[in-house]
Amino acid sequence: MTETAASAAVGPGRDRQGVVYRDGALGRRPAVPTAFGDLERAAQRASSKRAWAYVAGGAGEGRTMCNNRRAFDRWAIVPRMAHGVTERDLSSTVVNTSLSSPLLLAPVGAGALMAPDSDLAIASAAAATGTPYIFSNQGCNPMEDCAAAMGSASRWFQLYWSSDEELVDSLLHRAEAIGSEAVVVTLDTTMLGWRPQDLNLGSLPFARGEGIAQYTSDPRFRDIVRQRIDAAREMVAERPDITLGAIRTLMAMTRNHPGSFLDNLRSPVPRAAAETFLDIYSNPGLSWEHLATLRDRTRLPIVLKGILHPDDARRAVDLGVDAVVVSNHGGRQLDGSIASLDALLEIRAAIGREPTLLLDSGIRSGTDLFVALALGADAVLLGRPYMYGLAVAGQRGVEEVIRNVIAEFDLTMALTGARSIADIDERFVRPNPSF
Ligand code: GLV
Repeated sequence: MTETAASAAVGPGRDRQGVVYRDGALGRRPAVPTAFGDLERAAQRASSKRAWAYVAGGAGEGRTMCNNRRAFDRWAIVPRMAHGVTERDLSSTVVNTSLSSPLLLAPVGAGALMAPDSDLAIASAAAATGTPYIFSNQGCNPMEDCAAAMGSASRWFQLYWSSDEELVDSLLHRAEAIGSEAVVVTLDTTMLGWRPQDLNLGSLPFARGEGIAQYTSDPRFRDIVRQRIDAAREMVAERPDITLGAIRTLMAMTRNHPGSFLDNLRSPVPRAAAETFLDIYSNPGLSWEHLATLRDRTRLPIVLKGILHPDDARRAVDLGVDAVVVSNHGGRQLDGSIASLDALLEIRAAIGREPTLLLDSGIRSGTDLFVALALGADAVLLGRPYMYGLAVAGQRGVEEVIRNVIAEFDLTMALTGARSIADIDERFVRPNPSF
């Protein structure tokens, strides 16, 4: 049975219910659970320990992830009755990208931990549902392949500001060439946060060559790797300890590197690539001076992701960026950080209604999306839920998660009486008296 993401007459909510209930009458169940808690449990069962630690894990004690959810609990939706709204328009435009619903897929690194060719599966699901996909700079398939899988569907590219400026230019150039409609610069990951789940397993996907496909496919990055190998030849090589773990890591690097396994096994390049990535993927000295150079380096609209303080948001607006993503990186970077929804409220109050604000971190359902819009977001980014769909049922799982979130959002509009995205504002929410 086919569905569109936002059909006009009954809306994606009733469309989706119709598909699920009709399939149910034929004895078929949805590929993924339709509520987040069950989805999360199913995804954990389907994942390895390493995969779960990386994707579900957060910084420190997990307080930021907790804050992200509690911030939503502090708000209650107050629906209106007898409003006569039968048709809803879920469409809008952000940063020159037309949205069929106010949802984009967040960039998530090392997705192949969850399923092979993760980024291709996600790209195909995004295209099938008409949802823009923000390609991760730490993706597992080169951006060119993901773009090819999407046809003309919208894609943005997320950039980590490398300490190698030529690599920054090369990635920007490739993003333009693949028809990316914006570049999203992530500001909050100038180094990885303290992540106990990964640390306890001693597991860093990138060290195994997972999540570095944008780098190993990049001409500038490959040059740097070659230079490092040449330089190392002139030094006395340190012999690594040969343990079972070291052999496993070497095998993973060899398998994850582009090209034939046997050629890679004989080559120093896969190991050098992983080491080079770890050295240069991000610039701990990233500053507003770096960001100020962006306008002259790309014709793409510029989006800054990871902003939580109103002064930083003001500075971004003063710099003339096209949008800001209010985000704490899904609670993965800093423990005990302000919830992104709380930051959204403060930032919207500080910069006014005009600048485009997207919300990332903590979105789990269609009602979360509604609350985020009511509190000042123009659109939201969905992260872990679609990764969980990928773990449970591959591309189909991602598609169903997206359709479910949009369906619930549409039903929330229908049941509250919101006709359009512009209609959704603070009149529909209030501080939750039950919290
Ligand atoms: C990278 O973006 C990460 O959160 O690990």
